[in-house]
Amino acid sequence: MGRFDGKVALVTGGASGIGAATLRRLASEGAAVVCADIDDERGETFAAELRESGAAASFVHCDVGELSQVEAAVARAVEEHGGLDIMHNNAAWSGGGWVADIPPEDWDRSIRIMLTAVFYGCRSAIPAMLERGGGSIVNTASIEAFGGEMLASPYTTAKAGVVNFTRNVAIEYGRKGIRANSICPGIVDTPMFDVMATFSKRTRKEMAELHAIGRVIRPEEIASVVAFLCSEDASAITGAALVVDGGLTASLNLGGHDPLID
Ligand SMILES: NC(=O)c1ccc[n+]([C@@H]2O[C@H](COP(=O)([O-])OP(=O)(O)OC[C@H]3O[C@@H](n4cnc5c(N)ncnc54)[C@H](O)[C@@H]3O)[C@@H](O)[C@H]2O)c1
Repeated sequence: MGRFDGKVALVTGGASGIGAATLRRLASEGAAVVCADIDDERGETFAAELRESGAAASFVHCDVGELSQVEAAVARAVEEHGGLDIMHNNAAWSGGGWVADIPPEDWDRSIRIMLTAVFYGCRSAIPAMLERGGGSIVNTASIEAFGGEMLASPYTTAKAGVVNFTRNVAIEYGRKGIRANSICPGIVDTPMFDVMATFSKRTRKEMAELHAIGRVIRPEEIASVVAFLCSEDASAITGAALVVDGGLTASLNLGGHDPLID
């Protein structure tokens, strides 16, 4: 018996990184899964790989910035697998730079793909979940929801919005059987980390050392938390912003001590 036998899950940004790890984990515990992404080649290949491992899995092309495409992805999950129980709004794209230099269209697209898309995902998934008597929504935020980050204002702003929007979903739909939580990862070893590393003044090793565990987080470690939040084990958790950061935000390190030496 898997924790998600008979359940149907949809993950956006599911062709890579955290989304792919989450789909793999949910499928391994019995869920039928739908991978939604703009990367058709990677998504199709990944869904085929999941099917080969015995899972009921499909890929749907979906730009999360387009409401009609998000609605179509949910409809596909319902048609193919009979309903929807789990929605993980996880895709991201962000512009950045000095506030006075950010092109307005980059700002708009960042907010659209990371915040409005989470609204689209919830708006589309909730009616399908209500049909099943409830469900679980997990929205990927970031520890950057809780503080500023140089040259990343569209990202930090969108992720802060995700945290509070998720609380709203939780309070509006809790009595109808839907739980909604956000997760706030530290640095996770995905292609997004590779992009971060090219812009950062820190080396990858220095970025890893920011975490109390002395390393960056594996996508599977985020996936296991998403799976927990979607499971009955988390039946009393809703409206939470769950920090999964290997202790990165546990220290302000004002004294500048090196935990390896001092
Ligand atoms: N990697 C990290 O360090 C880190 C830290 C905190 C939060 N996050 C968040 O985790 C989530 C997943 O990031 P990741 O690290 O796995 O990145 P990733 O780059 O590995 O995966 C992102 C996926 O999103 C897809 N995508 C991009 N734009 C899309 C769109 N418009 N519609 C649908 N899909 C789209 C990409 O094709 C890709 O498959 C993001 O919300 C990100 O902000 C990542």
